[in-house]
Amino acid sequence: MVKKFTIANLKGGVGKTTNSCMIGYELARLGKRVLIIDLDPQANATQLLQRTYERQNDKPLRFDKTMMKAIQDDDVADQIVSVMDNLYLLPSNNDFYNYNDFITMKYLPTVKDYREKQYGFFGSLIKPIENNFEYIIYDVPPTRSIYTYTAMYDTDYIAIALQTEQHSFDGAIAFSEYMQSMYSEFDEVDYDFIGLLPALMTNKSKVDNKIVKDAINYFGEEMIWKIIPYMERLKQYSVEGIGEKGLTPTYDGHDTTTHKFFRSLANEFLERIGDE
Ligand SMILES: Nc1ncnc2c1ncn2[C@@H]1O[C@H](COP(=O)(O)OP(=O)(O)O)[C@@H](O)[C@H]1O
Ligand SMILES: [Mg+2]
Repeated sequence: MVKKFTIANLKGGVGKTTNSCMIGYELARLGKRVLIIDLDPQANATQLLQRTYERQNDKPLRFDKTMMKAIQDDDVADQIVSVMDNLYLLPSNNDFYNYNDFITMKYLPTVKDYREKQYGFFGSLIKPIENNFEYIIYDVPPTRSIYTYTAMYDTDYIAIALQTEQHSFDGAIAFSEYMQSMYSEFDEVDYDFIGLLPALMTNKSKVDNKIVKDAINYFGEEMIWKIIPYMERLKQYSVEGIGEKGLTPTYDGHDTTTHKFFRSLANEFLERIGDE
């Protein structure tokens, strides 16, 4: 059975996309079949993986049609593309912003259980193919919106991305409260909360950062994943795609260090969901 994972926070720029893609990438390198579903109309995960493909293959990764068109044509699963061995992507696009209007029109408030139908619709589109994968990772925008509801409705595991700054902590608490209200409101919603991923956002932030301590006090020490160091290389990946020895023409020691860290984070994910 496939296991679906979502990293969320109601604040942007906290590492949701980076950590989702890097964990997905390393799981694929460990030989797991992974699908990353980009549910963010900003399409940052799509761009990162497109650039990774291009860096590995020296040619662009092309898509037949946009996410919104595929939803309208009812062939979403056909849009899945292979990024590299074991790593697949369901790409997003700017026109996915129209999904909100689309779903509102599809299930008007006069329809019985319209919210359940709106939130569950996307999951029903991928249901027929989801078991072709061992792991599905949803990348979501930092908003209370149909995109986040869609992922929360379908996912098995949620973690919260936490940057070591106050707004991110506030966003994490807001998200955890919102998670609990979704959980109690809808029978279909059934995920395990598997903790917080604390990332240091400058190379000067201290590991004993106050936010990490606050998070430990609030959520409990066992809920806090290993601290993600500030890695300049990740910024480069968002521009140039992921580099790795054996897969891309260029790489250096920083790539090796970055992969070593995320390999351990992918293993932590597997441990936390009981899949070691
Ligand atoms: N551990 C890290 N070290 C350095 N830069 C990071 C780290 N994690 C993310 N970034 C950078 O921070 C920016 C925001 O990250 P991103 O994953 O896009 O956040 P979100 O998806 O939450 O909006 C990106 O430019 C990314 O490259
Ligand atoms: Mg993002």
